[in-house]
Amino acid sequence: MATDNSKLAVEISPSAPFTEIEDLRITSQKPLIRKTSLRRQNELIGNAPAKVAARYDKLAPWMRFLECFLCSPKGFRERALSRLHLPPGGRVLIVGCGGGPEIPVACKLVGPSGHVDAIDISPNQIQIARRLCASTGLENVSLQVADAMHFSAPVGYHGVVFAYSYIAMSPHHRDIARHLWNCVLPAGYMGVMENKLPPGFRFLEPLVQAFVNCTYLGDIRIDPRVDFEEFGPVENYEEVLGSHCMVTVRKG
Ligand SMILES: C[S@@+](CC[C@H](N)C(=O)[O-])C[C@H]1O[C@@H](n2cnc3c(N)ncnc32)[C@H](O)[C@@H]1O
Repeated sequence: MATDNSKLAVEISPSAPFTEIEDLRITSQKPLIRKTSLRRQNELIGNAPAKVAARYDKLAPWMRFLECFLCSPKGFRERALSRLHLPPGGRVLIVGCGGGPEIPVACKLVGPSGHVDAIDISPNQIQIARRLCASTGLENVSLQVADAMHFSAPVGYHGVVFAYSYIAMSPHHRDIARHLWNCVLPAGYMGVMENKLPPGFRFLEPLVQAFVNCTYLGDIRIDPRVDFEEFGPVENYEEVLGSHCMVTVRKG
């Protein structure tokens, strides 16, 4: 399905944090999911950016419940971000930040002299993240509604992390990873946190993909580790409970 991606390109400006971008409008797309069989749903991957934005706008109030449903391990975010080895005063980009659960962790790591940029394709998710930053008094944060594929960074990053969002980046996950890898400073890191199917549960793939198609939109067959190997040896790969993983690769 052809979509005008250029509408989703949003420039980040360090001097204009918390910018509101209102031009993400879903075009008239037919609901693909409802009239399809489970088998067909399992093939429904690679959704257009505007569709993803609209879906996550709707999901925004429910993300916490969905996360509980997926049993996100305690301390997982902290651990994944610590694998980026962010220096105090460093700059980090959080991709697919949603309502911003990783932002306070990242702020703590870079300290008051550092900076956190966080992007998400969904304006509603960014609103929630903005409220979180305001209520917790985080000031060294810039939030942007942006498509990761068209995001242009103002400076190099010590770390870039895909925050439980990589499979949602289908079908352009490789291009997006390459695009953001270019923003990483030498000796910096890029990482991913992701849900995965435990090995013994592969037979559930069609069901789980159908769930993803109805909620998160993405392709559960994407293995970030394979993509990241293109950039260099994977420095860290960890699985928790067999259902969550993190991957980190270092530049240079
Ligand atoms: C599963 S949610 C995770 C949100 C948050 N990191 C959390 O853990 O609650 C995935 C997020 O990725 C965002 N996303 C999906 N595709 C994107 C893209 N191409 N560019 C930027 N964000 C995207 C979605 O809007 C959504 O907020």
